[in-house]
Amino acid sequence: MTAAIVLSAQTTALGIVRALGVMGVPVVVVHYDWRDIAQHSRYVVEKVSATHPEVDEEAFVATILKLSDRWKDAVLFPASDETLLIAARHKDLLNRHFQVACPDYALVLQVIDKRKTCLLAAAAGVPVPQTLLPTSVAELKEFGCMIGFPCLLKPAQSHLFFGHFRRKMFIADNQGTLLDAYLQACDAGLDMMVQEIIPGSDQEVVNYNSYSHSGTPLVEFMADHVRNAPLHYGSPRVACSSNLPGLIAPGRQLMRALGFSGFTCVEFKRDPRDGRFKLMEINGRHNLSTLLAVRCGINFPWLEYKHLAYGTIPEPHAYESGIYWIDMTRDIAYSLRNAFSERYAPASYLRPYLSPKVWAIFDYADPKPFRQRIRSLAGYMACNSGMCKHFKPRMVKQIGHEGPVLR
Ligand SMILES: Nc1ncnc2c1ncn2[C@@H]1O[C@H](COP(=O)(O)OP(=O)(O)O)[C@@H](O)[C@H]1O
Ligand SMILES: [Mg+2]
Repeated sequence: MTAAIVLSAQTTALGIVRALGVMGVPVVVVHYDWRDIAQHSRYVVEKVSATHPEVDEEAFVATILKLSDRWKDAVLFPASDETLLIAARHKDLLNRHFQVACPDYALVLQVIDKRKTCLLAAAAGVPVPQTLLPTSVAELKEFGCMIGFPCLLKPAQSHLFFGHFRRKMFIADNQGTLLDAYLQACDAGLDMMVQEIIPGSDQEVVNYNSYSHSGTPLVEFMADHVRNAPLHYGSPRVACSSNLPGLIAPGRQLMRALGFSGFTCVEFKRDPRDGRFKLMEINGRHNLSTLLAVRCGINFPWLEYKHLAYGTIPEPHAYESGIYWIDMTRDIAYSLRNAFSERYAPASYLRPYLSPKVWAIFDYADPKPFRQRIRSLAGYMACNSGMCKHFKPRMVKQIGHEGPVLR
């Protein structure tokens, strides 16, 4: 059977590994971060340690190419933004040895760079939060006034910003904090955009996932965010499969506008002021809650694998709604840390745990990734609390400090 090679090894990657592993696909994992877990999965037939792709891109590509001796024609799955960019940039070369499960570079840039995504969506008639792209301090000041406060200063490329600031964006309450945040981002060499805040809780954030062929979604799946981490401007720690008819039109419009082939996860937020779904971002790769769709009846990595390896065109699938996906360690850690600010009623907090669900990482049949997650979390906490003077996480790139929230 043709193998799969998964690039990166965190929660998204683990979802792909398990989704393919249960179908009998031999899976190779290329890992490079001290927090990685997917390489420990029982479904992994070979794990390869690589230099971080943002530290040495050529070395990373060379590591992948070396795998062609043993895993010729394997399907290559980038499972993070940095590996998506690299796989797309070197797609022609990699395609000589493998089958790369990502769109062409020009298209990847449209989804990785949120400025391009917003422009494309607006041109396609998909609602977008009011967004302005400053190129100078003077413009920034003008745009802050136009959008009003509080507003968001969001990076064009999220993964680069996160590598520097360990957060997804800045929230600015006034001109002073907006300027301060902008200058910090400029110092780090990052392009930013000023964006209106769509009001409402994390439950208003939804995913439209699809597998498309030449701009036509063939298989669709939708989910609500239930709790995000951090609150308001984070990524899901609990999600729930759902059926949202109002999402289908904007989701399909975007895929058509992009002419997309492959898997995407599009995030929208329902704007309570007009009831419309406003675009947050497009992930041109598999997402954190891959295993939710699998649990509900749609195995996207398997559909993509069969399409690329054997030419089987995916057909529309029905799926089960009301199933939860829980990233237990993040959910519990954030809930403890923010017990007072989050204020979930106990019944609503516990509902996902008492309902039909799938865990993001925990799995009786495949326990090692969860054990590794606990181990690195415990080490990290001990390190931060000063309990352990000897624990030093093996970081392969400089991780920025967590600065104060600009409020
Ligand atoms: N304009 C906005 N208004 C309200 N919430 C937002 C806005 N932009 C982002 N968010 C919140 O922040 C989260 C992360 O933003 P996103 O653009 O998806 O960044 P990333 O690419 O890092 O995931 C979103 O899921 C959403 O909850
Ligand atoms: Mg997001």
